[in-house]
Amino acid sequence: MKSSLQDVEPTDRPTGVVGAAPAGATDQQTAARAVQEMFGAIAPRYDLLNHVLSMNVDRLWWWRTTRKFDAILKNPAERVLDLCCGTGEMAFALERQAQGNAKIVGADFAHPMLFRAAAKSAKRGKVLSWIEADALQLPFAGESFGLVTSAFGFRNLADYDAGLWEILRVLRPGGECGILECSEPEGVFGKVYGFYFRQVLPKIGTALSGVQGPYSYLPASVERFPKPPEMLERMRAAGFREATWTPYTFGIASLYWGKK
Ligand SMILES: C[S@@+](CC[C@H](N)C(=O)[O-])C[C@H]1O[C@@H](n2cnc3c(N)ncnc32)[C@H](O)[C@@H]1O
Repeated sequence: MKSSLQDVEPTDRPTGVVGAAPAGATDQQTAARAVQEMFGAIAPRYDLLNHVLSMNVDRLWWWRTTRKFDAILKNPAERVLDLCCGTGEMAFALERQAQGNAKIVGADFAHPMLFRAAAKSAKRGKVLSWIEADALQLPFAGESFGLVTSAFGFRNLADYDAGLWEILRVLRPGGECGILECSEPEGVFGKVYGFYFRQVLPKIGTALSGVQGPYSYLPASVERFPKPPEMLERMRAAGFREATWTPYTFGIASLYWGKK
């Protein structure tokens, strides 16, 4: 199923700062610091937990996302930025699809996550660049990339609109953006999944990571994230010429696509 902005119910134009708000955060700075510390703390077991909690479907989502951008990835003149790259799995999936053509750069502000990405690419002999940077203040000139992706990272930004503006700034005209995010399905499946997501997943995550907090933050952050009609509104309001939403796996993940 694919839905464009024209297909969704009109909403009021969104206003005000909306972004991640981990427990205890009082403003954007403390929210960003809490997110950075949280991912730093779970970095050692992040990959294992990701695969266990998603039952390995995460690999399918990364791969589906890369296929959407095949033409850009197969162009040797293109540069691609994977924002909030974490331990690098989305960036590696982009690199596999690119087959040595587009140059891939991964960026994240949690050093322990990025350290693992860099170690994995050195071990696998991959040619990717890794940059420690805040997604809201990227150290790149305007119009540097033909594609910006973000897998399960955008939801953690302290200001979603500022995140979209920064993506637009670094995209060249005609460049594309793919934001892959967790989402909540509706209907009966949504109720069953909601039970797993809110009651079961936080317990498994906490037990396996040995860290209190991040796996309760996960469902709370997904609940807080704009629903597809609002997210598409925000993308259009930020300046994307086109914006669409594609649900993956009954809607437990979503790909937001935008074109500058
Ligand atoms: C759930 S992980 C996703 C990692 C990876 N993309 C994946 O698919 O497995 C979210 C990542 O976003 C990063 N992140 C959150 N806010 C960020 C920001 N403002 N700037 C840079 N990275 C950020 C975190 O450090 C974390 O590594």
